[in-house]
Amino acid sequence: MTQIDRYGVMGYPVSHSRSPVIHRLFALQTGQNMQYELLQVTPDKLDVAIRQFQRTGGMGLNITVPHKAEVIKLCDELTERASTAGAANTLTFADGEIQGDNTDGIGLLRDLTTNLGVALGGANILILGAGGATRGIVGPLLDMQPASLRIANRTLDKAQALSDHFSRSGPVSACSFNMVPVTEAYDLIINATSAGVKGEIPPYPAAAISKSTLCYDLSYGLKPTPFSEWAREQGAERSVMGWGMLVEQAAESFNIWRGVRPQTAPVLKQMKITA
Ligand code: ATR
Repeated sequence: MTQIDRYGVMGYPVSHSRSPVIHRLFALQTGQNMQYELLQVTPDKLDVAIRQFQRTGGMGLNITVPHKAEVIKLCDELTERASTAGAANTLTFADGEIQGDNTDGIGLLRDLTTNLGVALGGANILILGAGGATRGIVGPLLDMQPASLRIANRTLDKAQALSDHFSRSGPVSACSFNMVPVTEAYDLIINATSAGVKGEIPPYPAAAISKSTLCYDLSYGLKPTPFSEWAREQGAERSVMGWGMLVEQAAESFNIWRGVRPQTAPVLKQMKITA
């Protein structure tokens, strides 16, 4: 009997993850014979769980919160984008080795440029937050040659450290929420804080929003997130949650594993309906 190819997502908690649904839809669409499991693993068991999955014939894993940075240490090989992001969300098991990649940044870029039609070249970009999520997207955004990329954070030191880290890659700078320069309109404001998840609304810089600003929340939910609601209240014409990034990063992982790029539009449509 031939064994079905196994994949999965590992996180803690992970029961809310939409990745199994997305990958099953991709597999159906592209005729791939594979299964995709939901694997809840506590941080202290991460190493053992990954190696067991690998030993028992698993072919690839998505890694999600809170393991994305930690998993880097277990990889034999890392792509440049995973090493720049300091985090991996996609593992591939081949020839007894673990290859780590990160598709979050490219997922965001595809959603912004292909799905939402945003021109990032020459754009003024503001990122709110300076944690792991920000670190994963700054490199890919700078690759698109924006006019400026500002990182604003509650804790200035963390924004400054990230800005220093990426300063050789482009025009990046740091500030605190109450010091965001608003002399030029921002084309894109990305919420990369985890405040909304905790139901908190930090003092985001309202003056940074103009009518033409696209506000993008990396978080997503059944209802509008606190940030997306706040952005609309401030007059942003477009306020978008990160469903598209979620589906696009999954498509990129799927492509790495199966060598087939699924169509994302129908899946994204279905996700939003069934969300
Ligand atoms: P992630 O991997 O999701 O980025 P993280 O690394 O813990 O998670 O980072 C969380 C980010 O959300 C940080 O920028 C954090 O700000 P601080 O660096 O000042 O801690 C931000 N954040 C979380 N809760 C917040 C709140 N209530 N107000 C403002 N910022 C908040």
